[in-house]
Amino acid sequence: MKSYPIKELLSNVPILHEVVVNGWVKTFRSNRFIALNDGSTINNIQCVVDFEQFDEELLKQIATGAALKISGTLVESQGKGQNVEIQVKDIFVHGSADPETYPIQPKKHSLEFLREKAHLRVRTNTFAAVMRVRSALSFAVHQYFRDNGFYYVHTPIITGSDAEGAGEMFRVSTLDPKNPPVTEEGNVDYKEDFFGKETNLTVSGQLEAETYAMGLGKVYTFGPTFRAENSNTSRHLAEFWMIEPEVAFNDLDANMDLAEDFIKNVINYILDNCKEDLEFLEKRLLDEEKSKPQIERSEMALLEKLRFVSENNFKRVSYTEAIDILRNCKPNKKKKFKYSIDEWGADLQSEHERFLVEKHFKCPVILFDYPAKIKAFYMRLNEDGNTVRAMDILFPGIGEIVGGSQREERLDVLKEKIETLGIDEKELWWYLDLRKFGTAVHSGFGLGFERLVLFATGMGNIRDVIPFPRTPQNAEF
Ligand code: 4AD
Ligand code: MG
Repeated sequence: MKSYPIKELLSNVPILHEVVVNGWVKTFRSNRFIALNDGSTINNIQCVVDFEQFDEELLKQIATGAALKISGTLVESQGKGQNVEIQVKDIFVHGSADPETYPIQPKKHSLEFLREKAHLRVRTNTFAAVMRVRSALSFAVHQYFRDNGFYYVHTPIITGSDAEGAGEMFRVSTLDPKNPPVTEEGNVDYKEDFFGKETNLTVSGQLEAETYAMGLGKVYTFGPTFRAENSNTSRHLAEFWMIEPEVAFNDLDANMDLAEDFIKNVINYILDNCKEDLEFLEKRLLDEEKSKPQIERSEMALLEKLRFVSENNFKRVSYTEAIDILRNCKPNKKKKFKYSIDEWGADLQSEHERFLVEKHFKCPVILFDYPAKIKAFYMRLNEDGNTVRAMDILFPGIGEIVGGSQREERLDVLKEKIETLGIDEKELWWYLDLRKFGTAVHSGFGLGFERLVLFATGMGNIRDVIPFPRTPQNAEF
């Protein structure tokens, strides 16, 4: 007899077929109704047991969490809530789950509790739905770039450079921390280390992606990145996945067009392909928000919000315009911001970004032409000498979801910048080579994948949209 995924059983198998199904018990009611789920869909298959036909000892092992193989006949369901069910002929218990100790019982568990059970939480409807949507989004990312002539490049995870210049890196070393070799000056001698130099986990694949864009034209990376920022927020992870396209001959406007089109496309993909999971997540969010005061609730339900983003243009605003808006807005004048905005040049905090998106424009916003001082070294300097061709995309409920720029392609300007910032030019010799040999206008951006999943699923904490979150003081599992 053939075994079927539950997704297929519920939609695609003729009535009266003899079937086999494997899965985990969600609930077992009245010693008669097993709700079985195998992860292929949010929906369970109901398996109806004639308990008089089965050994009591066997039935005792059927509890929430147990893994079963069930054989029987697919029939039209007598009850409400499902079209088909299985009349059970045979049950094999792969493994039972003791109700006294199995933590995922059929009741409401808090997300915080489930974070501590991250190895089991995917067996809840919420996490299974989130992870299916995450997987679909990841597929959509690759599909989008493939359909648009991009090549996928695997940039290194161990690197000697700090692309963002923020110094928030995890060191990679095989030296004995108790007894490292030292130089004559008394510093750790990294010449003796595995790579013969200081190395770290990458904070971004951009610099290497640029080298490939200058030969393959359109490339993207999609891999893990690591930041040792001590930010304990609901938007930061120490290990997160970033999507970074890089395109030769694109200027900043083309870069913004690409980012907007890309985001809309992947959102449309899940609207078309993850309907049941998104509907479940929408209900979950509505439930969660019932306990919140009215003003903290979302203005739109999840699906409406996703459609809104996919159907409307993002608002493009220069940093200078944004500062004017912020300087004169009510919360700033009434000193409601933690960081007040007094002058041009200030770095925007997430409270400011969220004000612009959620209160002022009420749609996704692309801010561009930021002060050079607050952005990374590689961004192209504008004619004004003060601003760079940077762009950040800000999303409702999320804040910054994309950071990108047109890159400085002029060797002399880039060298001067590197020198003023005190970066070691020798470390970047290969990056400077790109500006010596066939340099050209080029642009790219980085999208934090978990922030996209956060937005797409309506979850509130980034730790709940990655299987095993890494955050300060936490690397369990
Ligand atoms: O703005 P960032 O730092 O930009 C870069 O790394 C560029 N090199 C990208 C490029 O141009 N190729 O990071 C890009 C995005 C942010 O907008 C945010 O979505 C996400 O990465 N991000 C994080 N996501 C989760 N946890 C963190 N600690 C993050 N830091 C950045
Ligand atoms: Mg950024």
